[in-house]
Amino acid sequence: MSVNPKIEQLRNLREESRAGGGAERIQRQHDSGRQTAHERLDVLLDPGSFHEIDAFVRHQSTDFGLDKQRIPGDSVVTGWGTISGRLVYVFSQDFTVMGGSLSSVHAQKICKVMDMAMRTGAPIIGLNDSGGARIQEGVVSLGGYADIFLRNTLASGVIPQLSVIMGPCAGGAVYSPALTDFILMVRDTSYMFITGPDVVKQVTHEDVTHEDLGGASVHAAKSGVAHLVGENEGNTLLLLRELLGYLPQNNMEDPPFIPTQDDSLRADPDLDTIIPSEPNRPYDIKDVIHRVVDDGIFFETQADYAANIVVGFARLGGHSVGIVGNQPMVLAGVLDIAASEKAARFIRFCDSFNIPIITFVDVPGYLPGTTQEHNGIITSGAKLLYAYCEATVPKLTVTTRKAYGGAYCVMSSKHIRGDLNLAWPTAEIAVMGPEGAVEIIYRRELRDSVDPLTLKGELANEYRERLANPYIAAEYGFIDDVIEPRNTRARLINGLEVFQNKRDSNPPKKHGNMPL
Ligand code: HXC
Repeated sequence: MSVNPKIEQLRNLREESRAGGGAERIQRQHDSGRQTAHERLDVLLDPGSFHEIDAFVRHQSTDFGLDKQRIPGDSVVTGWGTISGRLVYVFSQDFTVMGGSLSSVHAQKICKVMDMAMRTGAPIIGLNDSGGARIQEGVVSLGGYADIFLRNTLASGVIPQLSVIMGPCAGGAVYSPALTDFILMVRDTSYMFITGPDVVKQVTHEDVTHEDLGGASVHAAKSGVAHLVGENEGNTLLLLRELLGYLPQNNMEDPPFIPTQDDSLRADPDLDTIIPSEPNRPYDIKDVIHRVVDDGIFFETQADYAANIVVGFARLGGHSVGIVGNQPMVLAGVLDIAASEKAARFIRFCDSFNIPIITFVDVPGYLPGTTQEHNGIITSGAKLLYAYCEATVPKLTVTTRKAYGGAYCVMSSKHIRGDLNLAWPTAEIAVMGPEGAVEIIYRRELRDSVDPLTLKGELANEYRERLANPYIAAEYGFIDDVIEPRNTRARLINGLEVFQNKRDSNPPKKHGNMPL
């Protein structure tokens, strides 16, 4: 039976759109270790769930021979689908069509799915692979970027926005991902920078490769721009699926509850001995986190950046939680500029999306020194303070060891609306560490002593015994309870259930003036 010619025309058009820039360019894409825009969506979304829209959109430009390159769908694939059964909107840039460059219709297609995501309260995911503004279109293309930036900003805190960098992302194009909540990158095949190696060479005379300027490793460890890095495209898209499992669809919903077989009363006796007897010996805060959360699963983000603080998602009794923990293994868990900013951004994300925050505290203070002071530790440290203070989600805190000085105040203390503040018996809560404190309050005695070292040791021990414990804070009610470490999981899950319906709000205002 012959096919209705109108239907045949439709099928041909669809095929033309799906073929993008043609077999040769698709082959080049594959040869470079990259998939096509559609292939990526097939990996990202639940099988058969993708519904494409705007596959017939074509650009209207004629300059510079563009009239001969009017490919249906232009250089981006858009639509919706599901991830683990939950609705998401997607756009996937097609590098085979004029290098995935952003034309005005490319921008309009992205804006359309962003608007739909906002209207229906579902996450928006962008798979980025583009040579940036379509050079032939000039200012119209720049305007398209600005339209996207505005939407990114308005959607911030309303729906989760997730970006995956899967190829080039250069120039002003980096700012749309930068305005989103999480950036994932693919190792070796993706890069992001505001100006490429050639311009860098002209301006600063530096020789640098794409990879060393803006590859995944650089952004994961040095700039902190990338939150997660996958070893290949498939692995990166699976990381994104996993991340989404901790997030609600929008700011009016709670994150998904996943019932667990892991006993909510499970005690872990090994936690009782995890803190070393010497106060300056490190231990891995991630061991504590793994032992406390459901099934030992901790989904860490920004793992290679500012590793002196650990952030990420987990579940406790099935509830999705954001975890922040000082890491004694790195720089003794001190708070510096990078750690403060990393944790502040994470806390604000969790607060925007109704994800309770669990904080594990073991912090000797803010990092001293000219480098930190001159680069603005005052402002950056204040960001962390601001983020914790303004957060109204349930905030549960466990002080495992040190909570000294300003760092005591900032790390989700009772004073800044901590809902449940627990401490282990090993906690030391004081204005400063014993060594520093005795040098100040016993300066004269130490100066006049014949054996200042021994005297300092004795005074420090006395100080530690008198002040560096959790009971003085508990006497004032700043610590709600001192618990046996083995019971941490049970106490936190109980706390989450008790405080899940708590109501806290901030005064009405246009917005605060966060110390940016
Ligand atoms: C139009 C573009 C393009 C662009 C690439 N192409 N970038 N077409 N506008 N911006 C086309 C190429 O002509 C080529 O077409 C195809 O895409 C593949 O490009 P190649 O150069 O062959 O690929 P490759 O060697 O892999 O290099 C990729 C690249 C390079 C590094 C991205 O193409 C590049 O440097 N492009 C320009 C990047 C750039 O400067 N963009 C503007 C940034 S400024 P054919 O027909 O041969 O397949 C910007 C401002 C935004 O984006 C401001 C927002 C505020």
